[in-house]
Amino acid sequence: MLAGSVLILAGIMGTALYALRRSRRGHGVSERAMLIGGGVLFPFVTLFALMVWSLVGERLAAEDDPSLFRLEARGHQFWWEFTYPDVGGAPLYGAGEAFVPAGEPLLVALESQDVIHSFWVPRLAGKMDAIPGRTNLMRLAADAPGTYAGQCAEFCGNQHLNMRFIVHALPAAELAARLEALAATAPDPALPGAADFAEHCAACHSVDPRRRGGPGPNLAALALRSQLGGGAPYAGADDLRRWLLDHPDIKPGSRKPPTTVNHDTLDRIITYLESTRP
Ligand code: CUA
Repeated sequence: MLAGSVLILAGIMGTALYALRRSRRGHGVSERAMLIGGGVLFPFVTLFALMVWSLVGERLAAEDDPSLFRLEARGHQFWWEFTYPDVGGAPLYGAGEAFVPAGEPLLVALESQDVIHSFWVPRLAGKMDAIPGRTNLMRLAADAPGTYAGQCAEFCGNQHLNMRFIVHALPAAELAARLEALAATAPDPALPGAADFAEHCAACHSVDPRRRGGPGPNLAALALRSQLGGGAPYAGADDLRRWLLDHPDIKPGSRKPPTTVNHDTLDRIITYLESTRP
């Protein structure tokens, strides 16, 4: 592509120099030949070559490769759902934060629940669209273990900016242990908040890492995450309370309905969701 650009630039500069010299000397190639050659043939040949090159030479979409680690990322207005298709023989569901291997390539399968979003982790790879009704495969690699910030990069509605996510790249052994731990983590069902959650929240949210759940993000192991609702900081019960009470102001336009339960019930639900905190 660079070589093509340099060739075109050289051609244009050469033609410009020729035109300058010609106007001084007053003769040379006829205007008709210049028009047909420079105005029709040249763009036709160049654009055709570029089209062939872009179709054949440069593959933007990755090839499917079952030997690579696979993460499914599904865009929703306005959060990212992350699914690991096979952890111990079954899918594992999560949201907002993804865990991937460090030091080896992986595939991200991009999908969308509603409108076009774009998956972008600037330090790991370029952007790729998540489009409803199709799966776009993206290949990326985190060279070193670490935490990488991601952001939806396609305007998708009024809370497009609050559609952030986090990618944690871990060494392979650590990753396997983390995913197994996540698959075994759910809030303590013995807490009184379990019944309140079932009554008020479970229509939209699952707390079972093995069950995808309704339209809202899966909340299994929620207390192990570091952000809520695509970007609000989360370090403890106070942040969770603030989010549950104030999310219509923090994230206006979010699909999450306002919290209407009384304070005692809210306290029990928060204690329940926070029970996964080590
Ligand atoms: Cu999703 Cu912008």
